[in-house]
Amino acid sequence: MNKAIFTALGVAAIAAGCNTPAPVVKSPDGHIEVSLIHTGATLAYEVNVDGRQLIAPSRLGFVADGLVPAPDARMSLAFAEADTVWHQPWGENKEIRDRYKEMAMTLTDDSLVFTVRVRAFDDGMALRYEWEASGRDSVTVMDELTQFAFAESATSWSIPADFDSYEKEYRTLPIDSVSDANTPFTFMTDSTRLFGSIHEAALYDFPEMTLRVDSSMPRALRAALAPMPSGVKAVVSARFATPWRTIQIGRKAVDLINSAMILNLNEPCKITDLSWIKPQKYVGVWWGMHLGTQTWTMGPRHGATTTNAIRCIDFARDNNLQGVLFEGWNEGWENWGGNQHFDYIKAYADFDIDSIARYAQANGIELWAHNETGGNIPEYEAVLDSAFAYYQSLGIHTVKTGYAGGFKGGYYHHSQYGVRHYQKVVETAARHQLMVDAHEPIKETGIRRTWPNMMTREGARGMEWNAWSAGNTADYLCTLPFVRMLSGPMDYTPGIFDINYRRAKADKGRLEWNGPNADCCIKTTIARQIANWVIIYSPLQMASDLIENYEGHPGFQFFRDFDADCDWSEALAGEIGRYIVMARRADDRYFLGAGTDSSARELDVALSFLDPDTTYTATVYADDTESADPEKLLISTCEVTSADTLTISMAPAGGQAVTFIPISRR
Ligand code: NOJ
Ligand code: CA
Repeated sequence: MNKAIFTALGVAAIAAGCNTPAPVVKSPDGHIEVSLIHTGATLAYEVNVDGRQLIAPSRLGFVADGLVPAPDARMSLAFAEADTVWHQPWGENKEIRDRYKEMAMTLTDDSLVFTVRVRAFDDGMALRYEWEASGRDSVTVMDELTQFAFAESATSWSIPADFDSYEKEYRTLPIDSVSDANTPFTFMTDSTRLFGSIHEAALYDFPEMTLRVDSSMPRALRAALAPMPSGVKAVVSARFATPWRTIQIGRKAVDLINSAMILNLNEPCKITDLSWIKPQKYVGVWWGMHLGTQTWTMGPRHGATTTNAIRCIDFARDNNLQGVLFEGWNEGWENWGGNQHFDYIKAYADFDIDSIARYAQANGIELWAHNETGGNIPEYEAVLDSAFAYYQSLGIHTVKTGYAGGFKGGYYHHSQYGVRHYQKVVETAARHQLMVDAHEPIKETGIRRTWPNMMTREGARGMEWNAWSAGNTADYLCTLPFVRMLSGPMDYTPGIFDINYRRAKADKGRLEWNGPNADCCIKTTIARQIANWVIIYSPLQMASDLIENYEGHPGFQFFRDFDADCDWSEALAGEIGRYIVMARRADDRYFLGAGTDSSARELDVALSFLDPDTTYTATVYADDTESADPEKLLISTCEVTSADTLTISMAPAGGQAVTFIPISRR
């Protein structure tokens, strides 16, 4: 590689540069303005909201051989705008409006066309880099220089940067105390009280962007890309467009949740036959392994046996669920944490996959495949196509993947190598009509618009952490919707009813449980567990407890009535880390989920989101606020209309869930 290091910053002052005002693009409603500044040798951007600086002039560019326009490069500007409505096959909202104004600044010389494209939306801004370098096949990116210099002090909510894992606790930090962070990186400015979140959109062939302190300016962060083992960040083609660098902006914290900007920055759907892509509710053999009462490996406590599978399928059929997942169905689990060799086709001898697949099909239930890779990507990729073809032949339409283990070869999960792998799985799955639920994934950047078989993913501390660590607090659960969930759906696997693990503990002799949570429990009320089915959006939504803990439990009626295929969603109220109220509609039913932090809370919620011409039966699943006993669930029903107000009372770490089922239309 050419040792010379160049940067787009190094672009010499370009013809129209120094003394003319910086070109600006304004959001359609005019309140967000983004300017591109090239003065002297610098290329930068600035963001103003309501006439006040949010992002002070912040550097743009790369350290990359071949991305250097000549000093006499010609600068041109192009402006565009769009206002369209598009539909997705599933999602928080099926109908989405995409409205923005765009400005592209292009520097052209004999061997390079280098563009910074900016879009200003009413709910944020985005920019990306595009280039076409002639006389070369590829460009090697050593570093990205994009800066986010905050004009005023702000509070932030984020997880630390880690190129291998997002399963971290949130920190609330002043911007100037953040040394590194992953995205979404959510913030609230101190004096202007604006809410925002830095993230990225359309990540396909690049490392993930994390943030690192930039001490050259006050309150500044800069892009820090996940590296390859060689230290190179990315090798991309000579004609390339980077992922978008995004800042969602809102006046209220919930505006960030209600924004579709990340999806809007992705390309339209590339799959033509969508008939096999179906949101669903599922159960499975899963929690028992995390509690230690069952095993993934074959043996006396093996979870994925034919008998257990048939029981789960019967349960799904009888309870209006659509899918079943059996982890530990395939050979190789003995090697997990060792040589990470899994067989993706051969079932354990006590799991009769053919008859289970037939039984599931006969009962109208979707059987899932599960692929834990342990991070052994070369072996997984070698059989990917044949394994997926095999699942397809069994009538399977969903695969849950897992990467619990370091990647072979020293690659980071979130490096360009990892991003390419995750995308290869999505596209291979699409060819075999498989939906994907990825654990230990690359973060979501809206690619579900383009690849709607990429249904859901983990990418944060999910339910499993409650089994073998100090667990997830209610404060964590009140932060999740404003940070991780801004990126897209999450397979948190909510809904543990036996919050004190009574059944598992009664079974003590069989427990292999020695984690810090061995004597503890789920850190919320049961009502909150139910509410999480609404709050934590996933088109594949799991009832994660042992099915025997649902049998006969009145609270499970909520999940029977629930529909994972929603049409409309709105975060009605919330404060980051404190509380959240979410409403969703699926066909003519509405669902509401509310959750509080460690404080009891009462909230009045106007039901004006309901259809004005319909009367509904509201079934309320509430905490017992008097006793504050987290195991106590109060269920009541009443008739409501859109003119009513619901008073939601929540115990500490509690919540409330409500179904609204139409009785009559006026
Ligand atoms: C971690 C995943 O998050 C979890 O859901 C799964 O059960 C285990 N890995 C085993 O694959
Ligand atoms: Ca995990």
